[in-house]
Amino acid sequence: MKEAKRGILVTSFGTTYADTRATAIETCENTIASAFPDFTVRRSFTSYMIIKRLRLRDGIEIPTPEEALKSMLGEGFTEVVVQPLHIIPGEEFHEKIVKKAIPYKSRFNTLRIGRPLLFYERDYQEVAAGIKAQLPGLNPGEGVVFVGHGTSHPANACYSCLQSFLQDEDLPVFIGNVEGYPEIDRVIKRLKKADIKEVTLMPFMLVAGDHARKDMAGEDESSWKSILEREGFKVEVYLHGLGENEAFRLMYVDRVKDALNEEASCI
Ligand code: CO
Repeated sequence: MKEAKRGILVTSFGTTYADTRATAIETCENTIASAFPDFTVRRSFTSYMIIKRLRLRDGIEIPTPEEALKSMLGEGFTEVVVQPLHIIPGEEFHEKIVKKAIPYKSRFNTLRIGRPLLFYERDYQEVAAGIKAQLPGLNPGEGVVFVGHGTSHPANACYSCLQSFLQDEDLPVFIGNVEGYPEIDRVIKRLKKADIKEVTLMPFMLVAGDHARKDMAGEDESSWKSILEREGFKVEVYLHGLGENEAFRLMYVDRVKDALNEEASCI
């Protein structure tokens, strides 16, 4: 049998912003690389739109998970772990990672897929702790709104499950989504009910990209910041994706470890 050649394909949605790509994606890749020195770490993105934009605008070539697996196969990799940096097991995870990896399963000696951030019950506890580590000091009347992406996929329920874990901890932290329940009107009702007057907005996304800069923190009247200010809240913004928080980077390392233990692989 030929010698094992091991690789980890770190897969994120991607971003067209070079700064947050470095601080939130590359940092995760580097943390994973230093935790697994016997593995070569590769990058892929699941957003075809972002891949195309980077190619046309910046001349940067980033493969899809499928393309990356194909070239890793060609390079003689024998053991591969695909680790998503995605937050929920939604469409990107199922359609663009798991489904595309299935045909490659029998072509490597082993091919495993790590789970996204929110998956098992224990993950919610961990994520709630990671969120706690990122909170500013909060006085009564102050709260934090984490702005997630949201989806029409059934995995949108993950956000409400996380909210439930945060409630168990009595944290004045509210999860909202730009594209799915709970949307901003619901979040405002919850903030008022909890007597919150001052809000810090933080992205509940890996990177602080377009959704964070524009939909969450933009000066446009439809941004969450503007809407909350019109509703009378004092608003601060924190423009750093979860990938900038070490606690989250280490969670991805754990997911690679679990995937290497076949029982916890998603393929
Ligand atoms: Co989006």
